[in-house]
Amino acid sequence: MENPKDTINTIRETMGESLSILGHHYQSDDVIALTDVRGDSLELARKIQSLKAKHIVFCGVFFMAESAAVLCRPDQKIHIPDLSATCPMADMAEANRVRLVLEILQKNGRKITPLTYVNSSAAVKAVVGEYGGSVCTSANAQTMLAWAMKQGDGVLFLPDKHLANNSANALGIPEDQRLLLPTDVIDGDPNLHVTPAMTEDKQFIIWPGYCPIHEEFSLDTIKTIRAAEPNAHIVVHPECAPALVEAADGNGSTTYLIKYAETAPKGATIYIGTEENLVNRLADQYKGEKTIKPLIASQCDDMAKITVPKLAHTLVNLETATPVTVSDAVKEPAKLALERMLEVCS
Ligand code: 13P
Ligand code: SF4
Repeated sequence: MENPKDTINTIRETMGESLSILGHHYQSDDVIALTDVRGDSLELARKIQSLKAKHIVFCGVFFMAESAAVLCRPDQKIHIPDLSATCPMADMAEANRVRLVLEILQKNGRKITPLTYVNSSAAVKAVVGEYGGSVCTSANAQTMLAWAMKQGDGVLFLPDKHLANNSANALGIPEDQRLLLPTDVIDGDPNLHVTPAMTEDKQFIIWPGYCPIHEEFSLDTIKTIRAAEPNAHIVVHPECAPALVEAADGNGSTTYLIKYAETAPKGATIYIGTEENLVNRLADQYKGEKTIKPLIASQCDDMAKITVPKLAHTLVNLETATPVTVSDAVKEPAKLALERMLEVCS
């Protein structure tokens, strides 16, 4: 049997521009080496419509492929090598639950604008689109939050509580203007403990979701590094808790973290608080020039579900495979929410 890498390269050569393989920065080196386009969530979403390819294979997690399926042209088909590669944070917000919470929050006549992190299902983006809201990524969360705050009487940010608070801190939204919703909005408890009264004096309402990978990082690790290596740089992804973001030298999207490593001076030691595939790749890239280390070793198991053999299998079966699709009822409002973001951040 042919080596899966050779199979992939043969198919890439034969299909030429009619195939594009996209990869998120958290993919393994083996997969990244076989991609045509790499990027953070915002960059990859922006790329879709300008690609000539009719077949787009998305090496990342399902919400990314689904966003691509919402944004793609009618002649493009989106594929993902493993449909079970989901994002646990995205799974913490279910569309009907989001709608229910929005209805409760607006009962007293207040206009609450929903702003969903791109790490959410197309169905959630559709609800957000219907209610006049939009989407943000880690690269534009502050810009989009500033936009959302101007749309009505308050904002419901979902699903990531840390990105919500980090963005609110950056914009100076006072703590007493924020409300963290109870976790029963996530777990489906039929007795939803949300009332309009709870939020009527709040401008910023926060869904209690989080990324289990970035939740692993602790402030103690930063304190230990600061004590032992006072000259080391520490940068983190904004899915980390606010205490870590405040203690770090910088925070931002995966592309920000890559640029930080690139522009740091020769001889620098940089600790990066995010998924380890990206950090280890940067460590190899700058070996001998700069020392790059993970804040702690942490792998996103869902990102890791995409492997070279699965990519080969997807490419071999491209013509007969069922692409990632989104129903028209969901697609139109979800597209509206995504396009509002692309327009605000153009
Ligand atoms: P970026 O948009 O920064 O690449 O982040 C995506 C993600 O899932 C981080 O956990
Ligand atoms: Fe989701 Fe976290 Fe994995 Fe990113 S790292 S895809 S937020 S679980």
